Amino acid sequence: MPKHMILNLFIHGRGHHEAAWRHPKASPLPLSHIQYFQGLAQRAEEGLFDSIFLADQLALGPDVDSAPRTWLEPLTALGAIATATSKIGLIATASTTYTEPYNLVRQLASLDHISNGRIGWNVVTSWSVPAAGNYGDGAQVSHDIRYAKAREYIEIAKALWASWDADAIQDDRAAGRYARADGIRPINHKGEYYAVTGPLNVPQSRQGRPVLIQAGSSETGRDFAATHAEAIFTAHLEKAAAQAFYTDIKARVRQKGRAEDQALVLPGFSPMIGSTEAEAERLTREINDLADPEVGRTRMSGRFGGHDFSHLPMDTPLSPEDFPDPDTVQAARSRTAVIVDLVRREKPTLRQLLSKLAGARGHFTFAGTPDQVADLMQDWIEDGAADGFNLMPPVLPYMLDVFIDEVVPILQKRGLFKTEYQGDTLRDHYRLNMP
Ligand SMILES: Cc1cc2nc3c(=O)[nH]c(=O)nc-3n(C[C@H](O)[C@H](O)[C@H](O)COP(=O)(O)O)c2cc1C
Repeated sequence: MPKHMILNLFIHGRGHHEAAWRHPKASPLPLSHIQYFQGLAQRAEEGLFDSIFLADQLALGPDVDSAPRTWLEPLTALGAIATATSKIGLIATASTTYTEPYNLVRQLASLDHISNGRIGWNVVTSWSVPAAGNYGDGAQVSHDIRYAKAREYIEIAKALWASWDADAIQDDRAAGRYARADGIRPINHKGEYYAVTGPLNVPQSRQGRPVLIQAGSSETGRDFAATHAEAIFTAHLEKAAAQAFYTDIKARVRQKGRAEDQALVLPGFSPMIGSTEAEAERLTREINDLADPEVGRTRMSGRFGGHDFSHLPMDTPLSPEDFPDPDTVQAARSRTAVIVDLVRREKPTLRQLLSKLAGARGHFTFAGTPDQVADLMQDWIEDGAADGFNLMPPVLPYMLDVFIDEVVPILQKRGLFKTEYQGDTLRDHYRLNMP
């Protein structure tokens, strides 16, 4: 029996390609319109996707004049998406660096009730330098301290969600007993960064607590993921790197005494699908022609914490010396390593590099027929590179529709993807144990 793959739809702008928002087949709806998100989630639910995911940054991008850099705050949006769907899991990004644990844990617990147990939390430490300018004293918190705070934060979150027994609410009108007091406990946390007494003032949800997802791939990020994450989002530009990451994470998960299948690895995958290979390549060329390399240059600078790349010529081959050492980057460290590794391997010009990153910001892009897309996904699943995919359609809803209509039936025919939902919660879909 082949391994069933997990499919998560990563909703980002009007698609993951940098120029998707200009594409004639991208949604005509404004990006602040909730029906845009509800419609995509409903479509993904028709396609039996296990979950959708909304990313988040806590600052306006510097180039909003030439690219859409606004969206709805994910927790708020998920509240509305939850009421428009009934099965699909709903994952929101929220930051451990710039929110108080009690607030966020409560919001996520509430959403888990609103959605009847379908919430996941993408735990991020927020790498963006401009985000720091919107909180506290405005200085960026270092990579090490961000992860130290995140470690303490997640222990608090787990403790707060466990501060209620599943059956603590009795709601016994006749006996005048609303809740069983001995089933609700304070957590009395006093740590280096936070003091939280608890208990939570929201009861336990149907799936015990929201599913924990993590997306950092640095050394510290991997250790954090192996300890806590039930699913891991990750970005790779080639299969060998995805396999190495998969092997490494699963070994770390085992070392932490956890079962491998309780930490799913979901690499990003952005397929441009055509009825022939030539058509898929033409679609890719057409959208690449809409992309502005200067938008890509600004975006890349942000990943490297604001490093100035303005002096680099567009058409001269690059070398790793043109970039800061990723180990010293305080921003999106592992993604900067993905970029510098590509430069070391392929020596692209800046224009070629930016065109590659325009596809899906350092995630795996591919152009091919539905059968070729299915072959690739099957190969990654069977060859130790993935437990499923974070599907990142280059144009939304266009390439999501093509994927659901053309690729999903092939995966189902091969026994690689379900033909109906097997349960109701995100934990059910991801086959994760109750905490
Ligand atoms: C699929 C994916 C989605 C991500 N979404 C967000 C996000 O919404 N907000 C954010 O601040 N970081 C996001 N990140 C970045 C990670 O949380 C992390 O900061 C980054 O990968 C660098 O990790 P590292 O510092 O451990 O190398 C995402 C990463 C991946 C792979």
